[in-house]
Amino acid sequence: MAKLTVRDIDVRGKRVFLRVDYNVPLEEKDSQMVITDSTRIIETLPTLKLLMEKGGRLILAAHLGRPKGKREVTMSLAPVALKLSELLGKPVAFVDDCIGDKVASAAAALKDGEVLLLENVRYYSEEENNDPAFAEKLAKVADLYVNDAFGAAHRAHASTEGVARIVTRRGGLAAAGLLMERELKFLGDELENPARPFVVILGGAKVSDKIKVIDRLLEKADTILIGGAMAYTFKLAHGVKTGKSLVEPDHKGTALAAEEKAKLRQVNFQLPTDTIIATPVDTGKLNKKGKPVYDLTQIRTVSGDIPDDAEGFSIGPETAANYVKIIQSAKTVLWNGPMGMFEDARFAAGTNAVAQAVVDATRNNGAKSIIGGGDSVKALNKAGLGDQVTFMSTGGGASLEFLEGAVLPGVAALSEK
Ligand code: 3PG
Repeated sequence: MAKLTVRDIDVRGKRVFLRVDYNVPLEEKDSQMVITDSTRIIETLPTLKLLMEKGGRLILAAHLGRPKGKREVTMSLAPVALKLSELLGKPVAFVDDCIGDKVASAAAALKDGEVLLLENVRYYSEEENNDPAFAEKLAKVADLYVNDAFGAAHRAHASTEGVARIVTRRGGLAAAGLLMERELKFLGDELENPARPFVVILGGAKVSDKIKVIDRLLEKADTILIGGAMAYTFKLAHGVKTGKSLVEPDHKGTALAAEEKAKLRQVNFQLPTDTIIATPVDTGKLNKKGKPVYDLTQIRTVSGDIPDDAEGFSIGPETAANYVKIIQSAKTVLWNGPMGMFEDARFAAGTNAVAQAVVDATRNNGAKSIIGGGDSVKALNKAGLGDQVTFMSTGGGASLEFLEGAVLPGVAALSEK
């Protein structure tokens, strides 16, 4: 059933508890935390602006990082308040807590259309435990609840789920924000009856992480193109040598079962026919995390076995050309997971070719192109193509779980229309 959205609710003069996903990447520069990518903040602006215009008093709650119940200064939302204020062109009040007297008085001081951002809800371990007493404390300042945090909707935490339940139990409303609505539309409804051919591109490191998505999309897709390190487990299952590549020998059966299902359902299921490999050589140095640093030498392309001393890092040029042709003729494209280690320019060609083909399908073939969040969004942005697709999800784990067909607790708790 469809969920209530911010368009449907009257918020004038009311305190709106708005859960957003401002879990943005930060970097320390001159002992200040600086936001390196504001996409998640920017994407909530339409919801904020609409609620402000409608006269709501906005109390924003969010998490940042995984402070595990401690006040980690590097995970404070204070820099986000500044950024948000800059983006809105309006003041944004900030309290260095998310519950208690300070929050109550800051919320009471809000006038219609004003915005308050609370400090990181994960400074309390009760947040992740969805502790009912903590949720009650958060809900003290909530007349209405709005969830625009799609990226955190797979978590049944106090601010994503508990507060919504409390507000609705009291007879109040819990609505989806505009970003949440778009995410559910593109990752959900649009893929129910896609225009065909429907081509799914799946990359990423592990078969075990993606098998549920593969399984679900085998019910819908015409073609599934596999890339990234998970391809090596499929290869291993076919008796191909994979050298030092990342593989999951325990999931050979999972991989073969997926291929069998594809055959039964007549889905065109494609694995890479060539691979870019390199021979890692230990430099004897350690990185910041204390892990050994390897030089990647003798970069070359192979089409069969990967030698014992080598590791696969991306799909090869033949695979890329084949995938590009298939993607360009699609009418619906869903892309989740890069084709290789795109962060390193030496292994980025395959992922970049796929990114360009997705853009071409959108522009030249009228395809709907949906990017399922996480690293594929990073890859597309890195290639400068982020604004040329139909939709890019702001979710990581949430997108994956939603694509798997899971009911997200943060969505389930919202009021029906
Ligand atoms: C994300 O970045 O995917 C979301 O903000 C959720 O964060 P989490 O994985 O720490 O719950």
